[in-house]
Amino acid sequence: MYVCLCEGVTDTQIRDAVYEGCCSYREVRGTLGIASQCGKCACLAKQVVREAITEV
Ligand code: FES
Repeated sequence: MYVCLCEGVTDTQIRDAVYEGCCSYREVRGTLGIASQCGKCACLAKQVVREAITEV
Protein backbone atom coordinates (compact mmCIF):
# COMPACT_ATOMS: atom_id res chain seq x y z
CA MET A 1 0.00 0.00 0.00
CA TYR A 2 1.11 3.55 -0.62
CA VAL A 3 2.18 5.42 2.48
CA CYS A 4 3.44 8.59 0.83
CA LEU A 5 1.45 9.55 -2.25
CA CYS A 6 3.50 12.65 -2.99
CA GLU A 7 6.68 10.61 -3.36
CA GLY A 8 5.00 7.34 -4.38
CA VAL A 9 6.52 5.35 -1.51
CA THR A 10 4.97 2.10 -0.31
CA ASP A 11 5.13 0.40 3.09
CA THR A 12 7.24 -2.34 1.45
CA GLN A 13 9.84 0.24 0.41
CA ILE A 14 9.90 1.61 3.95
CA ARG A 15 10.41 -1.89 5.39
CA ASP A 16 13.16 -2.62 2.87
CA ALA A 17 14.93 0.61 3.85
CA VAL A 18 14.89 -0.52 7.48
CA TYR A 19 16.15 -4.01 6.58
CA GLU A 20 18.89 -2.42 4.51
CA GLY A 21 20.19 -0.44 7.45
CA CYS A 22 18.03 2.57 8.25
CA CYS A 23 17.46 2.53 11.99
CA SER A 24 15.31 5.59 12.57
CA TYR A 25 12.39 7.43 11.03
CA ARG A 26 14.74 10.27 10.23
CA GLU A 27 17.06 8.01 8.23
CA VAL A 28 14.18 6.44 6.31
CA ARG A 29 12.86 9.88 5.57
CA GLY A 30 16.24 11.01 4.31
CA THR A 31 16.58 7.91 2.12
CA LEU A 32 13.11 7.75 0.59
CA GLY A 33 12.01 11.39 0.77
CA ILE A 34 8.80 10.57 2.61
CA ALA A 35 6.91 13.41 4.27
CA SER A 36 8.96 15.97 2.39
CA GLN A 37 6.01 17.55 0.60
CA CYS A 38 2.49 17.76 2.08
CA GLY A 39 3.52 15.92 5.25
CA LYS A 40 0.21 14.05 5.58
CA CYS A 41 1.95 10.70 5.52
CA ALA A 42 4.26 11.44 8.47
CA CYS A 43 2.10 9.79 11.11
CA LEU A 44 1.55 6.56 9.16
CA ALA A 45 5.13 6.51 7.94
CA LYS A 46 6.43 6.74 11.51
CA GLN A 47 4.18 3.85 12.48
CA VAL A 48 5.43 1.66 9.62
CA VAL A 49 9.05 2.48 10.47
CA ARG A 50 8.48 1.67 14.13
CA GLU A 51 6.89 -1.67 13.28
CA ALA A 52 9.67 -2.54 10.85
CA ILE A 53 12.37 -1.67 13.38
CA THR A 54 10.84 -3.94 16.02
CA GLU A 55 10.79 -6.79 13.47
CA VAL A 56 14.47 -6.47 12.54
FE1 FES B 1 3.92 12.05 1.90
FE2 FES B 1 2.55 14.06 0.88
S1 FES B 1 1.91 12.02 1.18
S2 FES B 1 4.55 14.09 1.66
